Amino acid sequence: MPHTSRKKKPVHKKRKEFVDEEGWTRITSTTSVIGVPRKSTAVDSQTGGFHGRLEVPNVLKPAGVTPRPMKPVKGTTVDTMRAQYNRIEANWLESDLCRSLKEILRRYLGGGRREISNCVVFGSGSFCGDEIHWVDRHESAYYQIAAFRTVADTIEQIQGHWPPCYAQEPFYNELDAAFLANMHITRVDHPQGFNLLDEASFVYSPAAEPEVELRILSHDPEIWLHRSLEHLFYSNGMTVEDGQDDTRIDRDMAQAFLKTQDFAQLPDFDLKNFPFHGSMLWWRKTLDPEEKEP
Ligand SMILES: C[S@@+](CC[C@H](N)C(=O)[O-])C[C@H]1O[C@@H](n2cnc3c(N)ncnc32)[C@H](O)[C@@H]1O
Repeated sequence: MPHTSRKKKPVHKKRKEFVDEEGWTRITSTTSVIGVPRKSTAVDSQTGGFHGRLEVPNVLKPAGVTPRPMKPVKGTTVDTMRAQYNRIEANWLESDLCRSLKEILRRYLGGGRREISNCVVFGSGSFCGDEIHWVDRHESAYYQIAAFRTVADTIEQIQGHWPPCYAQEPFYNELDAAFLANMHITRVDHPQGFNLLDEASFVYSPAAEPEVELRILSHDPEIWLHRSLEHLFYSNGMTVEDGQDDTRIDRDMAQAFLKTQDFAQLPDFDLKNFPFHGSMLWWRKTLDPEEKEP
């Protein structure tokens, strides 16, 4: 059973701040990186799940996530973006991965058993430029938004209306925002996307950094298209021992989350730059009627 309380954290001496390659301001001590979001450890004693929202608005400094709009490739317009997207979407729709995703969603949501409140995607990258990576990854962004739209389409077919859809990414520029709007997706800025999450949300976080995935985890969304969470149980390649460092709380959170989840490893889709590498779909377990709250 995960812990419901924890001892006061030791004061970290020798703190040092640095801005990483993605623009996050991080705070380090000599032993660990502590600039990750933390959730209050309100663990439900019945289900092992957790409730409540993140309580660390100041841990990540605002400077680390201010919008940094990517410079668009010359000549890009919403029409050229849409044309490129349409080509990529057609390829995506033919994939086994797309078919599996739809099938699992229909099985889980079918018959109106559950209502999804909204859909939020974090960290697709810009759709019309990539001047920061060795390889231009903006085609991956199109594939990832195609997957996101497939989920929204499936929800629309089941629920009878297009769910509110949002996308958050510090690199989005005005063209990205217009392209998203053209597809009925609203661009939001950090931390609005996290604030929109509730326990009936669908979330997609393709190749998200730990800070982003921990924030998502803390909101306990209904369905999460992400990857394995195994890495949260390890630190520098070694298992983290109880009470050894700050990653302990992340592990508790991940453990509590896993207890409430079913998951499926999705089929590979062999594409340049691997936009769907290791994709897993997580969804909340259906409790036995006896386990349900009165
Ligand atoms: C490892 S990259 C993955 C990019 C893309 N999904 C891919 O597969 O190539 C992580 C992305 O998350 C974005 N990101 C960082 N902080 C974020 C935040 N607070 N909210 C949303 N996205 C964020 C970064 O700008 C970056 O584009």
